Amino acid sequence: MISKKMQDAFVDQINEELFSSYLYLSMAAWFESKNFHGMAKWMQVQAEEEREHAMKFFDQIVERGGRVKLAAIKEPQFEWKNPLDAFQAAFAHEQHITKRINDLTDLAVKEKDHASQIFLQWFVKEQVEEEAHADEIVHKLEFIGEAGHGLYMIDRELGAREAD
Ligand code: FEO
Repeated sequence: MISKKMQDAFVDQINEELFSSYLYLSMAAWFESKNFHGMAKWMQVQAEEEREHAMKFFDQIVERGGRVKLAAIKEPQFEWKNPLDAFQAAFAHEQHITKRINDLTDLAVKEKDHASQIFLQWFVKEQVEEEAHADEIVHKLEFIGEAGHGLYMIDRELGAREAD
């Protein structure tokens, strides 16, 4: 059975993951409003992935005999200056999530909770990918700058993203 401390920390992480989903959905809406339909699609796929991350924590708590008490999800940002600004914010957010996952792993070690340590390994690896994807797009957008053709091309490229 999961400890109360670990359960509560996992429940907090459900909120973080659902907020991530909300944030990326808000970014998708912003991209749609600017007619960047490809980047909007990329963000929608990302939002869906975040919901799946939340469900992994949900299922883990339930499987280990815990109880999930959901809290309110805070309102995400609504406007960004440009695509680079939005993806920089996404990258910064993923760095924040990585820190959260590392803190959870530290707690699992402290609690001598081996099941949680193994469970969290998937997220440790996932965060390496999450940061790398966002960082790569930030670098491309920095390179492109304000060039319309480049933005059109990257919008097309990112629009090809499929759900994993
Ligand atoms: Fe659930 Fe983007 O990390």
